[in-house]
Amino acid sequence: MRVFVILPAAGIGTRMAAGSHTAAPKQFLSVGGTPVLVRSVRAFLEVSRVDAVCVAVRASERERVEAQIAEFELGPRVHVVEGGDSRQQSVGNALAALAADAEDVVLVHDAVRPLIDAATIERTIDAVEKHGAAIVGLPAVDTIKQVERTAEGAIITATIPRERVVQAQTPQGARVGLLKRAFAEAEADEFAGTDEASLLERAGVEVAVVAGSAKNFKITQPGDIELAEFYLKQAGAR
Ligand code: C5P
Repeated sequence: MRVFVILPAAGIGTRMAAGSHTAAPKQFLSVGGTPVLVRSVRAFLEVSRVDAVCVAVRASERERVEAQIAEFELGPRVHVVEGGDSRQQSVGNALAALAADAEDVVLVHDAVRPLIDAATIERTIDAVEKHGAAIVGLPAVDTIKQVERTAEGAIITATIPRERVVQAQTPQGARVGLLKRAFAEAEADEFAGTDEASLLERAGVEVAVVAGSAKNFKITQPGDIELAEFYLKQAGAR
């Protein structure tokens, strides 16, 4: 059994750019002197069970990413494929390019979550081996409300007991055969999901949850780079 990792990194980062007047997509911004994407790739390379990391990027960014792979000496386990117009398409392209068997494990991780740690990656791989599919989830600390959007904002329609809620993070993984089937079914039904678990769930696959942490957050808006640097300082300079 081999372990493959897909890092979708083909986003254009409009939320970040809107607030900070920077044109660089967030996966290329620097955290403590190292690009976000490079940090994410390195986190997976640290796990010796990982056989290959496949990064999905826009065609126009391919050269930049290949230059970073060389500059930061990420090595032969890292590969680049062309992404698509949505995260799901980017992951789908990478999945189609994997020379993997149905029983192999594939993990998908947002390139913009650079603070994922080796222990969480290991636990996710173990859970996929055991259950067939698993994601990292963060238990909710806030009370969660279901709402109906209105012109002025929103009205609460229900309170969801927070012990029944987790916030989906990544990595999200599955046996390659299961994830390929889930992607094929989503494509046939023109279903668009924001994560892999939603595709697996609708394909009838049971998805286990392993504990995530607040540190594994998604760099999304201005200020998040500083937050990532704060966490890194806390952990001691790498
Ligand atoms: O936009 P969002 O925060 O959901 O992005 C999550 C991840 O998906 C990011 O790493 C982003 O680069 C990636 N993505 C992608 N292809 C797209 C859109 C987003 O690979 N077309």
